[in-house]
Amino acid sequence: MSVMTMDSSIAAAAPATDAATGREKPFFAASDMHAYYGESYIVQGVSFDIRQGEVLALLGRNGAGKTSTLRAIARVDSPGLVKGEIWLDGKPVHKMKAFEAARAGIQLVPEDRRIIQGLTVEENLTLAQVAPGAGWDLERVYGHFPRLAERRRQEGVTLSGGEQQMLAIARALMRDIKLLLLDEPYEGLAPVIVREIENIVNEIKSLGITTIIVEQNAVAALQLADRAVILDTGEVAFTGTAKDVLDNAELRQEYLAI
Ligand SMILES: Nc1ncnc2c1ncn2[C@@H]1O[C@H](COP(=O)(O)OP(=O)(O)O)[C@@H](O)[C@H]1O
Ligand SMILES: [Mg+2]
Repeated sequence: MSVMTMDSSIAAAAPATDAATGREKPFFAASDMHAYYGESYIVQGVSFDIRQGEVLALLGRNGAGKTSTLRAIARVDSPGLVKGEIWLDGKPVHKMKAFEAARAGIQLVPEDRRIIQGLTVEENLTLAQVAPGAGWDLERVYGHFPRLAERRRQEGVTLSGGEQQMLAIARALMRDIKLLLLDEPYEGLAPVIVREIENIVNEIKSLGITTIIVEQNAVAALQLADRAVILDTGEVAFTGTAKDVLDNAELRQEYLAI
């Protein structure tokens, strides 16, 4: 498959340079990732990198391998990464287990949000705080998420879909966060609620938190993102700026059906 690249450079925070090559070292780099569910070969040589503070939209049709790619980056057991390297801020994530990747600052907010049953909003938040002092504290979370503050004593699973998404994102922020992975944060939400979550993601972006956003709502993701990677059957079909994709009707039609 041919790989289109229209990657123009985007100014970002002062990048580290590789002492050996003198080349700029990306904050995050996935290089030739191959991952399997048992015998099923799903992530088929995916590579991309992200600069610190950038938002990258990871797009593609249903079943293209977006969730699998996020899961492989977060080092959850399945799909198993059998080849490839993942580097975050100079650390070899590909050598880590999921808990180590989380400790290294990779926080995955999965599609199903995983709010813990029987716990209040506040308990869900404090439980996420593995190393106090590393991430945001409750006060800061409640400052950014007033709806969660109002509902702090309410059981987490009784929140509305949008509120549960807020709680899932807030929980990630209570950990030491270097790379936020958002899997379909707008899924199943009414348009007015999508706008609220969009505002939150925008706020996260303005705070300079490096983010990968996977979304079926590609236009919403692209409006937010600096750069985009399009996956097609487990391979990278396109890497470029978000604007490249928004401006390219052919590309959108072929891989995103928009
Ligand atoms: N647990 C699993 N076991 C086997 N195959 C899976 C599993 N999860 C997903 N797949 C397959 O991997 C492919 C990519 O899925 P996924 O990463 O969820 O795609 P996307 O998030 O882009 O919709 C699909 O063909 C899907 O059927
Ligand atoms: Mg998915």
